[in-house]
Amino acid sequence: MNVLLIGSGGREHALAWKLAQSSRLNTLFAAPGNPGIATRAEIVALDVADHAAVTAFCADKAIELVVIGPEAPLVDGLGDSLRAAGIAVFGPNKAAAQLEGSKAFTKRICDAAGIPTAGYIHATSRAEARAALDKFGAPVVIKADGLAAGKGVTVAMTREEAEAALADLFGARGGEAVIEQFLEGEEVSLFVLTDGKDILPFGTAQDHKRVGDGDTGPNTGGMGAYSPARVLTSALETRALDEIVRPTVAAMAAAGTPFSGVLYAGLMLTADGPKLIEYNARFGDPECQVLMARLDEDLLEVLLAVATGTLGERGPAKWRKEAALTVVMAAKGYPGTPETGAQIDGIAAAEAKGATVFQAGTRALDGQIVTAGGRVLAVTATGPTIADAQADAYRALTAIDFTGGFYRNDIGWREIARDPS
Ligand code: AMP
Ligand code: GLY
Repeated sequence: MNVLLIGSGGREHALAWKLAQSSRLNTLFAAPGNPGIATRAEIVALDVADHAAVTAFCADKAIELVVIGPEAPLVDGLGDSLRAAGIAVFGPNKAAAQLEGSKAFTKRICDAAGIPTAGYIHATSRAEARAALDKFGAPVVIKADGLAAGKGVTVAMTREEAEAALADLFGARGGEAVIEQFLEGEEVSLFVLTDGKDILPFGTAQDHKRVGDGDTGPNTGGMGAYSPARVLTSALETRALDEIVRPTVAAMAAAGTPFSGVLYAGLMLTADGPKLIEYNARFGDPECQVLMARLDEDLLEVLLAVATGTLGERGPAKWRKEAALTVVMAAKGYPGTPETGAQIDGIAAAEAKGATVFQAGTRALDGQIVTAGGRVLAVTATGPTIADAQADAYRALTAIDFTGGFYRNDIGWREIARDPS
């Protein structure tokens, strides 16, 4: 079958890499893609915001499944447009993507379904927001409402920091915010596929959001990740599925906006059990890279079952026993404005050392691959233990070189400190 993959990041390179291994695949197309994705797919010059053009392309190429990687086209309703044209889609409709797009929407679902999450106040004025600060004290969490690419959240340790965040948020043009109780515990990500009725647990991971070693410096989209995250024991996973994910899937269906795609639940493991921090309506990046490295079955079959509403007919997902770890190599300046255009050397040499190098912010220029974004590569390895996977990923990284390129040296530290095996 012919498949169209939407997106251009490391996540989509990992999806392309895994889809390309499917025995069901005829041709994989990708838009807008990147040079890494181009090694697995035929890149097509499609404007993904032009839904009519994407739909026409699907008809022209007999596309039977569209896999939407990033959140922006989901929130923009690309899934709705394709479904209206009778094309199977992996990824939720616009209304269901609000689980990621609107923090206030998700909080209302949590209220309605009794899902454990941080207490909150949805404030539409600065005065309301300040009253919420009086209620919650410090530390407190302040979130801009709407898609903010992970940058709309301030964890304020003091009242002063909280006031500064509010000034910023409600500053010039007013705004809306969710003010939340601070949850204490360890964060973990749980991925669950759902077709709107049935669910298929699809792996666990932890990432490293801060740019610097020791989890210091500004937040990023993620500097590395590993899977599985053993801190989410099977008992805790069962609780999270029963108390958080299943009620969400049911509430979405009951609201007439069933969620079909991957639910990426960001959980805090508190003393009272798992609580929902946030949902994303897509795979994590770079969490997807480690999930794909571990998945031991045909990704196309699985995504098709989600898209066609037949998840209930299949069994649990199969995983390799190995752990996987990925280290992001970023461009100078990231997470601020990255330097672009630097020639990248050594990708093949790194792969010869046993890693898989997923490309994110790269582009082809005169037969070379050059940097074109903040997060440039995700160097991914598997091994019998997390420590083995970590050693292999870092060994491979030494082969890669581009001016200004940097990475964290401690990806996986939490998992390895817990238990090196
Ligand atoms: P979010 O965009 O909602 O995932 O928030 C980004 C990050 O802020 C999360 O990954 C957490 O590290 C942190 N965070 C968000 N909400 C809370 C909370 N209620 N308590 C503690 N930390 C939080
Ligand atoms: N790595 C975090 C995310 O994809 O949102």
